[in-house]
Amino acid sequence: MAVLAAILFSGNVAAAGSWQPLQNDDLHDPASPAIGLLQQPAEALSKLPPDTTGNLVRWVEALEKGHIEPRSNIFPETKINLLDKDILMNLKGGTPIVRFPHRAHTLWLDCANCHDHLFKAQTGGNKLSMMQILQGEQCGVCHGAVAFPLTECNRCHSVPRPGIAKPSATPR
Ligand code: HEC
Ligand code: HEC
Ligand code: HEC
Repeated sequence: MAVLAAILFSGNVAAAGSWQPLQNDDLHDPASPAIGLLQQPAEALSKLPPDTTGNLVRWVEALEKGHIEPRSNIFPETKINLLDKDILMNLKGGTPIVRFPHRAHTLWLDCANCHDHLFKAQTGGNKLSMMQILQGEQCGVCHGAVAFPLTECNRCHSVPRPGIAKPSATPR
């Protein structure tokens, strides 16, 4: 539970590189008796694979390596859908290609969290734009709020573009 709460609030924490005690995080009521019962982020999160940004945890690594095992369903009949399919985006732009991994998302999320209200389930079927992402739409609905922040350009723009990456060998 502490871990899930920390994911939900990852946008609010730790720009300065350390975890805020719950009583100072502007989210919890410092006068509440529950404050003394909840595990502090510094205690809960310092044991997980470290990150330099967001709430200072590499969440996908924490999950893939078994550091955490969040419960995926409340009702046993709920079907868990995993999809291991990467989509490459921004094939024509100037920045490195964007690799969208379905697997890393469907480990946490249901298809219906994105399809179809955020993205049509069709490669190239959506008009994506960095401006809209920065305004908190599309990928920005989560990234910068509950997932790693948008300042981590190279985590999305992760595939080098051959030819552009190499500077010209001949000086002009
Ligand atoms: C959460 C993922 C994500 C992050 C983080 C991210 N981008 Fe993007 N970016 C995208 C997507 C998706 C597109 C649209 C791709 C398309 O048009 O198909 C895009 C498009 C762009 C484009 C326009 C296309 C181009 O290559 O000219 C630029 C410029 C850009 N991003 C720069 C940045 C910079 C700079 C950062 C860091 C400050 C950044 N992006 C961080 C996902 C991301
Ligand atoms: C975090 C958001 C997100 C989640 C969760 C998600 N998808 Fe997607 N999906 C996308 C994006 C983004 C695209 C690419 C859209 C584009 O290229 O315009 C995509 C594309 C697709 C496509 C098209 C692939 C193709 O070959 O054309 C299918 C099919 C799809 N998703 C199915 C699923 C299924 C099934 C699940 C659940 C197991 C799922 N998606 C979960 C965001 C998501
Ligand atoms: C519905 C919420 C949601 C949306 C929308 C979303 N993401 Fe994510 N994304 C997550 C979560 C949650 C994680 C895992 C936590 C983290 O890494 O911060 C994640 C992780 C990632 C990772 C890291 C994978 C790894 O192996 O570490 C990449 C890359 C990524 N997202 C790209 C994108 C791109 C590109 C888009 C838009 C096309 C997008 N995401 C849209 C929630 C979302």
